[in-house]
Amino acid sequence: VNVSGSRVLVTGATGGLGQAIARRLHAAGAQLVLTGRRVEVLEPLAAEVGAQALAVDLADPAAVERLAAECADVDVLVANAGLPGSGHLLTFSAAEIDRALAVNLRSAMILSRVIGERMVARGSGHIVLMSSLSGKIGSPGSSVYSATKFGLRGFAQGLREDLGPRGIGVSGIFPGFVRDAGMFADSGATLPFFVGTATAAQVADAVLRAIERNRAEIAVAPLSMRLGSAVGGLVPGLATAIQRRLGGEWVSEQLSAGQRVKR
Ligand SMILES: NC(=O)c1ccc[n+]([C@@H]2O[C@H](COP(=O)([O-])OP(=O)(O)OC[C@H]3O[C@@H](n4cnc5c(N)ncnc54)[C@H](OP(=O)(O)O)[C@@H]3O)[C@@H](O)[C@H]2O)c1
Repeated sequence: VNVSGSRVLVTGATGGLGQAIARRLHAAGAQLVLTGRRVEVLEPLAAEVGAQALAVDLADPAAVERLAAECADVDVLVANAGLPGSGHLLTFSAAEIDRALAVNLRSAMILSRVIGERMVARGSGHIVLMSSLSGKIGSPGSSVYSATKFGLRGFAQGLREDLGPRGIGVSGIFPGFVRDAGMFADSGATLPFFVGTATAAQVADAVLRAIERNRAEIAVAPLSMRLGSAVGGLVPGLATAIQRRLGGEWVSEQLSAGQRVKR
């Protein structure tokens, strides 16, 4: 799909990556509909990029239905909203697990269901699902988050098969640690010196590329991280053992402390 002139819904536009994605797609000529909960961030951003702003809590199924109905005719969906469900499973309440699933996975599935149907009727459209390298490999303190992000990967792969023959593209995006904006940067966590990072602008470029070139999957991380997650897909036990030796627990403890407020 050519982004210029297309109507694009971006969820989680108020976040670090969402803002970069909104600005990149605006620069490429998209007409944007932006969502988030924090209106004090959403409205100035929407004004800056000439977008429609819809404040929505994606943990609320009725609100997701309303958003899907209101935006059913967009040409492109970028399901980017997500919360960092980091931390040991035993520290989660059932309500926190439900919220992680609802925001990170269910909302993307429902929006794809409703918007995808109209895309099929028109014979064109593109759906981008924001996963993570945590959707390819588990690590300490990632069980809840990884459950949602592995889920998005499977959803993206299957949906691409179902909708591809009807003229609709589906892409999964897999960022590693993003250093300059977003939930990792906000956490204040530090990484061992040898762990590479990416930028929000690189993620935004990947989203644009995915839409325009109909790429199945794009990982946005240095080569070492991409290789590590590929090994993780083939030999999970080996990859997690290596992560643990390289300080995975230490990073995980910082993340779960720094991201607890976003659960
Ligand atoms: N940053 C990274 O290093 C990284 C790496 C891999 C993948 N990702 C993924 O990239 C996506 C964007 O993350 P980010 O780094 O930009 O995080 P962020 O800065 O924390 O932003 C998260 C976005 O999701 C929205 N959101 C959270 N809960 C919501 C809810 N209940 N209802 C509606 N919107 C909600 C937030 O809106 P409000 O704040 O307005 O509520 C915000 O716009 C996520 O799916 C994340 O998992 C990020």
